[in-house]
Amino acid sequence: MANEDLLQPGHVVKERWKILKKIGGGGFGEIYEGLDLVTQEQVALKLESSQQPKQVLKMEVAVLKKLQGKEHICRFIGCGRNDRFNYVVMQLQGKNLAELRRAQPRGAFSLSTTLRIGLQILKAIESIHEVGFLHRDIKPSNFAIGRNPHRMRKVYMLDFGLARQFTTGTGEVRPPRAAAGFRGTVRYASVNAHKNKEMGRHDDLWSLFYMLVEFVNGQLPWRKIKDKEQVGLMKEKYDHKSLLKQLPLDLQVFLEHIQSLEYADKPDYKMLANLFENCIRLRGIRYSDPYDWEKPIPANEGLPSTRSLPTVAIPSALTTAATLNQPSATPNVDTNNQENVEPDNKKELEAQLDYENLCRKARTQSIEGSTVPYTTAISNHGRDKNCNATVPITDNTRQPPGQVARKPAVQGT
Ligand SMILES: Nc1ncnc2c1ncn2[C@@H]1O[C@H](COP(=O)(O)OP(=O)(O)OP(=O)(O)O)[C@@H](O)[C@H]1O
Ligand SMILES: [Mg+2]
Repeated sequence: MANEDLLQPGHVVKERWKILKKIGGGGFGEIYEGLDLVTQEQVALKLESSQQPKQVLKMEVAVLKKLQGKEHICRFIGCGRNDRFNYVVMQLQGKNLAELRRAQPRGAFSLSTTLRIGLQILKAIESIHEVGFLHRDIKPSNFAIGRNPHRMRKVYMLDFGLARQFTTGTGEVRPPRAAAGFRGTVRYASVNAHKNKEMGRHDDLWSLFYMLVEFVNGQLPWRKIKDKEQVGLMKEKYDHKSLLKQLPLDLQVFLEHIQSLEYADKPDYKMLANLFENCIRLRGIRYSDPYDWEKPIPANEGLPSTRSLPTVAIPSALTTAATLNQPSATPNVDTNNQENVEPDNKKELEAQLDYENLCRKARTQSIEGSTVPYTTAISNHGRDKNCNATVPITDNTRQPPGQVARKPAVQGT
């Protein structure tokens, strides 16, 4: 119900960010479009309730800050907390890649669009690995295109709530845990992730591989299977080469490379980028060509239909009632693309990230040349380590109850 939302249109956070509308409610938070009353720019606010048992926004903020200045990353604008919620304010982007694909007449992207956004996503993944973190939830809805015309040709990486540091303080790869819980989203998870193995850099690339297949085909063979274990078994048995039918043969090298990697291995990002670049060049695709979402949709396009991929028998008990009722060609039957699970990194985060320090830096640093003052990040101070707001809050975003997200005085009509 709408009034269960943490904020309503018209609310103003920290006397600065006015809520315009809700644009998403993901597994862990609520996303709003807002207006920065100081700069007049449109912003995105991501909130999580302080009552929520799984607190992921601290990780989100920490990783977003580490990534500032990188090409495929939203600009960080501010963060804070009050007695009801934690929040981060960032640059507002446009539609996510899941929405854009589903809006296509066939529910699929052209090869030209797939290759060019694949290359951008690869670079975004490389940039998070460069700062020592795995994303662990690589999927189309965690990438969006830029908002305004001059940025809508660039893909931005979102959602660092499940990120995990894979390096030690000295830059070595951390020893893998014997067993790690499943993290990520079933549809795009690597076989390793299904087996609860410690994830490495290659697992993010496995998810990119599955995204590419879904982009060009409009579906993945396990899209209707709800059960995580069954999806894992199907992926294990599946002849992955057959997934590449609609993709250039060169991408077999991508598959072979990720198949050859183990936990601690560093992927050869340069070689992988070259594969995309070669495919793009050889097909005469220009980087300036319109992306599928920039092209007018032909009026005579019929209902979405997807390219079929070899299937394996799925026991009917494993498909949901909802999906059984769907025509098999419908591309957006989403049974396993939304399930992501809580982070397992609370403890490590506490140890690794001195939040107070982060906040102090944020106040003094100017990010991307902006001189706008930043709000304080969520304060830990060694007392409220779970960030669950059950202890008094000491940061400067706190406001007396009732004033936290108050309705503004009538702001014109
Ligand atoms: N900066 C942004 N600008 C525009 N839209 C955004 C922004 N951040 C998030 N969104 C939208 O909100 C959706 C959910 O955001 P996000 O993935 O960060 O939340 P989440 O709760 O972690 O989601 P999930 O658990 O479903 O992955 C995104 O798919 C995207 O469409
Ligand atoms: Mg998400």
